[in-house]
This record gives sequence, structure tokens and C-alpha cells, in this order.
Amino acid sequence: MSETSVAEVEGVDREGQLLRYRTGQRYIHLLVASSFTVLFLTGLPLIFEPLSFLAANGWSRIIHRVAAVGFMAVPFLYLLVDRQGAKELIVDSFSYDKDDRRWLLHMGQYFLGNAEGMPPQGRLNAGQKLHHASVIILGAGVVFSGLVLWIWAGQLTDVQLSWAALVHNVSMLGLVLLLIGHIYFTVVYKAINAMHTGYVPRTDAELEHAKWVAEMDALKAREPQVPPTEQDPPSGPGNP
Ligand code: HEM
Repeated sequence: MSETSVAEVEGVDREGQLLRYRTGQRYIHLLVASSFTVLFLTGLPLIFEPLSFLAANGWSRIIHRVAAVGFMAVPFLYLLVDRQGAKELIVDSFSYDKDDRRWLLHMGQYFLGNAEGMPPQGRLNAGQKLHHASVIILGAGVVFSGLVLWIWAGQLTDVQLSWAALVHNVSMLGLVLLLIGHIYFTVVYKAINAMHTGYVPRTDAELEHAKWVAEMDALKAREPQVPPTEQDPPSGPGNP
């Protein structure tokens, strides 16, 4: 994952690219993606009989718990490294305006890879908001039911244990289905670079997140202009 070389201010311009994800946000996402993948791969042998031989020596259970610690650490680390980003992610994911509702009605067109003429969107489009909100809710379901199965299994009745396992498995299934959609849109909209470098082409952002670009431009326009100094000669002919 490459480092950004300029001040990490959201929306800052670098050669026609706008900063969308700061370094901390990208590392947090890497932790989410890697811990989730390990949780899924080590969880399957625990519930799927034909793969149970993979869990026979007990290692998959241990690796599952290590990955669970990584996954559970995400909200705390996010708050620690980028409190503002974490707050925005939660607030944006659960706030929908008229344009978001109109966008969802045109979702079919977006699904097929065409964002042209869609209702204008903020930093997150309505589909991303639904995805992220569902990840937060189902992630909480997986974590709390997982903690019950890990810590309190010995004190629970069979019925209570079955309920905890049901919540755990259904939440995980939901997250896996969301991940399939998440990767589909990542490929269709060639978005992987946004998570790798943090930057998105301004032209793409104008098409897919017009309200966010306008908001960032307005913020930049409000920034106090630094008067030129002797070390900083004015640009002009012969003074590029
Ligand atoms: C494993 C492969 C994954 C890939 C390739 C991937 C790719 C991406 C990309 C490209 C973005 C930026 C989208 C944009 O703004 O245009 C993103 C954001 C995001 N992804 Fe993933 N992702 C993966 C796994 C996951 C998993 C497993 C989860 C949750 C369980 C997840 C949750 C999120 C969230 C919440 C964001 C928004 C991040 C923020 O605003 O801080 N991703 N992902």
C-alpha cells in the first residue's frame, strides 16, 4: 500500500486526483478485509461437515480466534487512528436524503456499470451507504454472538447455544453475500486503486460523487489565501 506524499486532507487535489481515503483508513480496511477472509476460511470447517477434517488438529479454531481479535479491534483502531473518518463512516452510512432515495430507484443502471446521469451523490453513494450500514449491523451480530460462543458457552443451555450459533452463522452468511457484491462493484468501477493509493480521478468522482466534489471545492475556496512572499515569487510569464 503506497503512502500519500501530500498533507492528508480529504478531497485534496493531486494531479487531477482527489484524496478519498487517508492512510489510516486504508490500513484499517486492510485489517477488515484480511481478518474477515481468515474468519470465513477458518469458520467453514467448523460448520461444514465435508471440510471438518481441516479443523481436526484444532489449529483452525485457534486461527479463527486470532482473526476474531483483529476483526473486533477494528472499531477501536479506527477511532484511534482516524476519529473523524470513523465518525463520518457511521453518520453517512445511516443518513439518506432525497437524492439517495432517487439513486436507489436507478440502482439497476448503476449495477450494470453505468453511472451516467444518476442522481448526484455525496462521499458515499446510496448503495455504499446500505452496504456499510449492513456491515456495521451484521458485524456487530457476528462479534456479540461470537463472544457468547467463546466466553459463555459453558454456562448456556442447548437452546441458548443454538440461538447464538444461529445469529453467528446468519450474520456471517449476510456478510459473505455483501462481500460478493462489494467485490463486484470494486471490479466494475475499477475502485481498487482508491483503497491502494487513497486517490480517485477527479472526473470519476464528479460522475459518481458530484455533491462530495462540490463540497470539497467549496471548502478549498473558503481556505484563507496565503499572500505571496519573497521566497514564493508570483507566477506569470517567465515565472511558471
Ligand atoms: C476482500 C476484498 C475487499 C476488497 C477488494 C475491497 C475493496 C474496497 C474498495 C475498493 C473500497 C473503496 C470503495 C470506494 O470508495 O470507491 C472499499 C471500502 C470499504 N469496504 Fe471493502 N473490500 C474488501 C473487503 C471488505 C470487507 C470484508 C468488508 C467488511 C466486512 C469491507 C468493508 C468496507 C467498508 C466499510 C468500506 C468503506 C471504508 C471507509 O469509509 O473507511 N470491505 N472496499
